[in-house]
Amino acid sequence: MNTAPKPRVLVARQVFDEVIEKLAGHFELQYNQADAVWTQDELIARLQGMDGAFVTGTEAIDRRLLDACPQLRAVCTMAVGYNNIDLAACTERGVLVSNAPDVLTETTADFGFALMMATARRITESEHFLRAGRWTRWGHDMFAGADVHGATLGVLGMGRIGQAIARRGALGFGMSVLYHNRSRLDPAVEAKLGARYVDKATLLRESDHLVLVLPYSPASHHAIGAAELALMKPTATLTNVARGGIVDDAALAEALRERRIAAAGLDVFEGEPAVHPALLQLPNVVLTPHIASASLPTRLAMAQLAADNLIAALGQGPHAGRPPTALNLQVLGAR
Ligand code: GLV
Repeated sequence: MNTAPKPRVLVARQVFDEVIEKLAGHFELQYNQADAVWTQDELIARLQGMDGAFVTGTEAIDRRLLDACPQLRAVCTMAVGYNNIDLAACTERGVLVSNAPDVLTETTADFGFALMMATARRITESEHFLRAGRWTRWGHDMFAGADVHGATLGVLGMGRIGQAIARRGALGFGMSVLYHNRSRLDPAVEAKLGARYVDKATLLRESDHLVLVLPYSPASHHAIGAAELALMKPTATLTNVARGGIVDDAALAEALRERRIAAAGLDVFEGEPAVHPALLQLPNVVLTPHIASASLPTRLAMAQLAADNLIAALGQGPHAGRPPTALNLQVLGAR
């Protein structure tokens, strides 16, 4: 009988009960089903002596935390984006990191497309008008927006989610698809998606609806600022389902206020959950609270994947030592 003590794991945020149950089968578990807000110091205090952490996109796993928690061996996030985790610092310390790709691709692409359509067709602006009791008569150009079908879709960041959005645009809506990415796709993939690679300036100039789906890093900070917005068509829309900080929100608010672009759809914000106050005042922006991956089945799948990674990373379960979506698998070999 294996009498070794179970590894100790902290779940930093509230998560599905079935995921807690799964983790509890393998670990001595501390969790936060009350979803209490912890300061960074509280998080560090609660991680003392923990072997693993189940986190989301909201906890900062930085050098200070890692230095203060030398026992930590695995950090598994249920998000695909991991800009809140210092991957290099984790790797240096032998801490395995995993994220949750693939399981959210189609759901997030659905939402990106929906947000782009809501933005182009002024859905929330017109709903606010109706709810305010201001709809008294029909008007020939009332809330007339931009067409989506047949328009030019621009995708900045052509990874899995970008490709899924491109597919929706090309196959479902007859859009011409342009994209820009750090590296160009294989021509066969481009042909299948009906997508044309262009430089960033051309993407900005020619897109009717530009969707941002690139990861956040210092290199993509303010990838869309005043200079980039100035290149866009005055009729164009901008949709961001990637990360706050990729867009300079103050510059965007200014461009929207001056109608230098027509409208924006934003699911992510610089400094979220705070939203730039100027954006809140504008009619031509659709705002959602970072929910692009939030269908119930997908959020459950993301959480299950993070749990599977943690279980395997800490040597438990049938896939011990083989976490399915590790970002620095090499640290396990070095242990
Ligand atoms: C959500 O933003 C994610 O990175 O999963």
